[in-house]
Amino acid sequence: MAGPKICVVGACNIDLISYVPRLPVLGETLHGDKFHMGFGGKGANQAVMAAKLGGDVAMVTKLGKDTFGENTLENFKRFGLNTTHVHFTNKAFSGVAPIAVDRDGNNSIIIVTGANDLLTEDEIQAAGQTIAEAGVLVCQLEIPLEINISALKIAREKSVFTIFNPAPARKELPPELFPLCDIFCPNESETELLTGMTVQTIEEAESAAKALLQKGPKTVLLTLGERGSLLVTKDGTKHIPVEPVKAVDTTGAGDSFVGSLAYFLAGGRDIEDAVARANRIASISVQASGTQTSFPDARDLPPGILD
Ligand code: RIB
Repeated sequence: MAGPKICVVGACNIDLISYVPRLPVLGETLHGDKFHMGFGGKGANQAVMAAKLGGDVAMVTKLGKDTFGENTLENFKRFGLNTTHVHFTNKAFSGVAPIAVDRDGNNSIIIVTGANDLLTEDEIQAAGQTIAEAGVLVCQLEIPLEINISALKIAREKSVFTIFNPAPARKELPPELFPLCDIFCPNESETELLTGMTVQTIEEAESAAKALLQKGPKTVLLTLGERGSLLVTKDGTKHIPVEPVKAVDTTGAGDSFVGSLAYFLAGGRDIEDAVARANRIASISVQASGTQTSFPDARDLPPGILD
């Protein structure tokens, strides 16, 4: 592969998606309309998105020695990923994610991280050269936190640009993590949980993003769903909107955004330009079903996104 180099350290799941008229309430059994099984996991999704655009992507992850794990490896190979640092364990099953999606495209997700939790410090150190050779390192929160911190530290030492996506949401993160992030990229609910602040209006989003910025990342990039993204640095705030679309399935839209962002930044785009392009790709992804299956290929993109 000759495209921009990206390294993703993160999780793989098999997504078990049920399409339902509405999300169930406590104790309720609902009839679903349709079922889809596909490749997911935030790290895997972001890596595949970057590869679909033409990125030269290396994945660092751990899978179970089971059918889901073998199929996931094949999927990575199909998209041309560097799988040197895809490990297997027989101590846990591959990650799985039962997901319900309602008729407005909203979802509710359970993750059983399994093998993802067993990625080790030694395996991250072994991927050090791969991280060092990347233009951008991307990490999320579906693998142990200390593993993310090690990967981010390697990137920092080697002056590799870092994107940290604090998903799924957590209430607290260690202070040492924030200064390791060039871009700290949460969504609205992750921001609310991390700051204890409400994120409904753009003004509230800006205040919360500024609170996160004070913790030490160079940039806070808050994703706002159909309202686009908010870019906050010490030099100011920029709201980058996106054209409204009718969502079918929002599962993985954030991953589509992060993977695209990594691709455009590794390709040398400036951050505002990269965000605007990633916004458009994420909005294309919500108009189709499934997770990775909803991510557009480079050849299917409308003119103006890649050029
Ligand atoms: O962000 C969407 C992803 O979250 C799904 O693919 C699921 O596996 C969970 O990790």
